[in-house]
Amino acid sequence: MPEIGPWSSRAIKDYSRVIEEFGLEPFDPSQLPDPPIVFRRGLVVASRDFGRILRSIRGKRPFALLTGFSPSGPMHFGHKLVADQVLYYRSLGADVTVAMADIEAFAVRGTPLRESKLLGVKSYILNMMAMGLEDADFYFQSERVAVRDLAWRLGTKVTFSELRSIYGFDESVSYSHLSVPLIQVGDILHVQLPEFGGPRPTIVPVALDQDPHIRLTRDLADRNSLYSVEARERGLAVFIRGKEDPLPHLERARDALESMGFSEFRMVPSYRALFVEDAPPGMREVVEEELRRLEPEAGYYGFIPPSATYNVHLEGLRGGKMSSSQPESAVFLDDDPEVAARKVWNALTGGRKTAEDQRRYGGDPERCQVFQLMKYHLVQDDAYLRQVEEECRTGQRLCGQCKREAAEAIREFLEGLARRRRELEPEVLSRFGLR
Ligand code: TRP
Ligand code: SF4
Repeated sequence: MPEIGPWSSRAIKDYSRVIEEFGLEPFDPSQLPDPPIVFRRGLVVASRDFGRILRSIRGKRPFALLTGFSPSGPMHFGHKLVADQVLYYRSLGADVTVAMADIEAFAVRGTPLRESKLLGVKSYILNMMAMGLEDADFYFQSERVAVRDLAWRLGTKVTFSELRSIYGFDESVSYSHLSVPLIQVGDILHVQLPEFGGPRPTIVPVALDQDPHIRLTRDLADRNSLYSVEARERGLAVFIRGKEDPLPHLERARDALESMGFSEFRMVPSYRALFVEDAPPGMREVVEEELRRLEPEAGYYGFIPPSATYNVHLEGLRGGKMSSSQPESAVFLDDDPEVAARKVWNALTGGRKTAEDQRRYGGDPERCQVFQLMKYHLVQDDAYLRQVEEECRTGQRLCGQCKREAAEAIREFLEGLARRRRELEPEVLSRFGLR
């Protein structure tokens, strides 16, 4: 197995090394308009091709969001951090699609589809809708033909040795597990099919360990498209892939580029190329995006390589991993508010053994799970968060005060959520055929 990947058991410790080795770009939240706390407080640590999304946001042009959850236990506050990001992109105009990875859960862990369905609808979909994502397109992998169709179509360009080198598969891998990466590629790219909105930039917010899937997806988006654009020292070079007559495609490219305002063209059909001498090399991506939009009409996919941001996982309430199978390690969105408040009172803190020591030496918010809850979920006000941190370090604050505040905030959040869930539940259950 590669050290880091979707099926490696090793937890990621040294993020900056992983970022360097994967060749990721840093993520700068200050580029975003009014970023919410998930972004401001450093949960998202890296990105790929995020400039494409920023351009769409600034130019008020359509962009899609696709993310997915593999429902192995009910939705917890770790999952909520992804939903918070989704909500924000929704507010910036993204159209949102969310995959329930029931094929993945079945192929990798043997979870029956029926079980994923119940959990997916009653916990993930219902809670995300209650959080404000009512108009998102939620679907199950096993129920969306377009996704599975793409998986086998794009699979013709993927070999076993490639999957082995990306994921570390060996000969003992099952046929079903082997199909999981391609299904995820199908999830991510199907939103760009004509019947799902056509080619457009797509943001995929995921955890860092999902990057191998993102790399494969971006590769396949390019390998399956008609037009590719390369920067030259002066200008851009447009190439036609495949074997058919390039001339009509080159002409269509020239017309499109002409209406973008360029005029110095040199067409070399024998080389399957169109040189655009007056296009600045820095416009490579923008031009490629424009040309990809022409592809569906010519019978190609025209997928624009998806962009991604990568978040880190927070620790569980008792330290260690936050896990759906350990109820005490996380607050679940379906937790009774009183139960959740009790979890906060029992959480690991960075406090000292006695109040006296705490006053004298101060606590350590970095090791404190109550502080993590406040930082990523509960305290919106940056100045107040800084104050709490300062008071903790200098011993002016005792853990009881934090716990009281955090428990109260969680109770309030969960009560509101439960109320909204109750309103939505009948309609959601019937929409997904559960009643
Ligand atoms: N593999 C992801 C996980 O384990 C879930 C997932 C399925 C997903 N399809 C996706 C995530 C598409 C992002 C995009 O959490
Ligand atoms: Fe955590 Fe607050 Fe205790 Fe500091 S005082 S260790 S922030 S609970």
